[in-house]
Amino acid sequence: MKDKLNLIPLYYFSASGNTKYCSQLVQRGFQDKSVSIELIRIKSVRDLTFPDKSKSYPAIGLAFPIYEFMVPRIILIWLNQLPTANQTTPVFIIDTSGGLPCNSAEIAMDLLRKKNYEPIGVLEVPTPTVEPFFDNKYYPAGWNREILDRCYYFGALLAKKLRKEDNRFIDLRLGRFRFRKLTKYMYRFFIEGWSSSAGLIRFDPSKCNRCGACERVCPMAAINIQQIPNLINHNRCMFCATCIRTCPYHAIKISYRPKKSPPSAIWTPKSRPGYIDPEKYHYSKNPSLGSGYLRLLIGMMRVKKILMNKRING
Ligand SMILES: Cc1cc2nc3c(=O)[nH]c(=O)nc-3n(C[C@H](O)[C@H](O)[C@H](O)COP(=O)(O)O)c2cc1C
Repeated sequence: MKDKLNLIPLYYFSASGNTKYCSQLVQRGFQDKSVSIELIRIKSVRDLTFPDKSKSYPAIGLAFPIYEFMVPRIILIWLNQLPTANQTTPVFIIDTSGGLPCNSAEIAMDLLRKKNYEPIGVLEVPTPTVEPFFDNKYYPAGWNREILDRCYYFGALLAKKLRKEDNRFIDLRLGRFRFRKLTKYMYRFFIEGWSSSAGLIRFDPSKCNRCGACERVCPMAAINIQQIPNLINHNRCMFCATCIRTCPYHAIKISYRPKKSPPSAIWTPKSRPGYIDPEKYHYSKNPSLGSGYLRLLIGMMRVKKILMNKRING
């Protein structure tokens, strides 16, 4: 059984590193329950890797951030090209966002079901988002134990489930914006209708020295330096900002913050307060208990218990 469990691949796409970090913490949760998973990066639409059809996997994982209230386009392409599994294979989903996932995991689950994958768990993680449109200065949030524990706990629960110790669907969604239909309309509006980063991304040819770094890192293969000054194919671009972070000459910028230093260029999960190296992370023995009201209630019950004990014992 253990050998079989060692084969779990977790495919992830991560532009600014959050999804990778959360996946590493989930991996840690698995590891501590003696199940190893392998993180496989979805790097470019030109070079997508998939589970091997000839192998049988105890489960596979898929991790992605939310873009424009939807599954990012690179993941939709991945899901589209994913070969149908020979036998029903469990799949788990990790979904990072700035707090508005809009139940996009549901869309991914639908597509996975069509390919003979059966969802066994979903994790939604609100992350400290510092994408180009949220300047670091104005959005100084960091990581906290609640987020880290949430990821770890998901991994540990899944490991238990795969060891047949637990049969429940592991649902660690944020509980908000669960309206699937709304999500679908939003998708149509944002991705299909307004599918263009033109006007949002500004390219300055005078700063560019044609090193090709942006072309190499673009996950959507939307950049062609031969086409300068029309560097970016805006119909392909999904606005992940990888090129903005990568360009050593700051030739690519966000159009509506032209005077600021390139936002998020040096941002990684490590640079946010509260970062703990997944290798050094330990699950806190006292994980936070959900909402503030619940905690208040439990706190009041504890106080009441102490007072009653005092009264009984004199
Ligand atoms: C183009 C784009 C669109 C985004 N749209 C949303 C969104 O609709 N809702 C949300 O909560 N976060 C949104 N985010 C924030 C990301 O989901 C969040 O920063 C995520 O943690 C990034 O993951 P990564 O670091 O692995 O790339 C968006 C980010 C980008 C770049």
